[in-house]
Amino acid sequence: MSNSLKIDGLSVSYGPIPALRNISIEVPAGGFVSVLGSNGAGKTTLVRTITGVLYLQKGKCTSGSIKFGDQEITKQKSRTIVKSGVAQVP
Ligand SMILES: Nc1ncnc2c1ncn2[C@@H]1O[C@H](COP(=O)(O)OP(=O)(O)O)[C@@H](O)[C@H]1O
Ligand SMILES: [Mg+2]
Repeated sequence: MSNSLKIDGLSVSYGPIPALRNISIEVPAGGFVSVLGSNGAGKTTLVRTITGVLYLQKGKCTSGSIKFGDQEITKQKSRTIVKSGVAQVP
């Protein structure tokens, strides 16, 4: 069974540097979403935030929520996020 991934009003900063401002994306269950953008647009930051590894770069999520199915995964530990079925595939 697959879940949808819903990102709502997400904002992320690295100290004083705003990286994402009010991002909302829905990846439907079993679907695909491609994120395109120039260098520095925030693609990597988005993936870091979804997978709970933003803290490694001293980044902070300042607003918004990320839900996988009914589960709120925003600010959960990366190991918990992986267990729920969300992972990076480099
Ligand atoms: N570790 C970091 N510390 C400070 N600023 C960062 C860091 N990583 C990325 N940024 C900044 O966040 C913004 C988004 O970068 P990034 O997510 O790497 O974009 P992309 O992956 O689309 O090239 C840019 O302004 C970038 O300079
Ligand atoms: Mg990148």
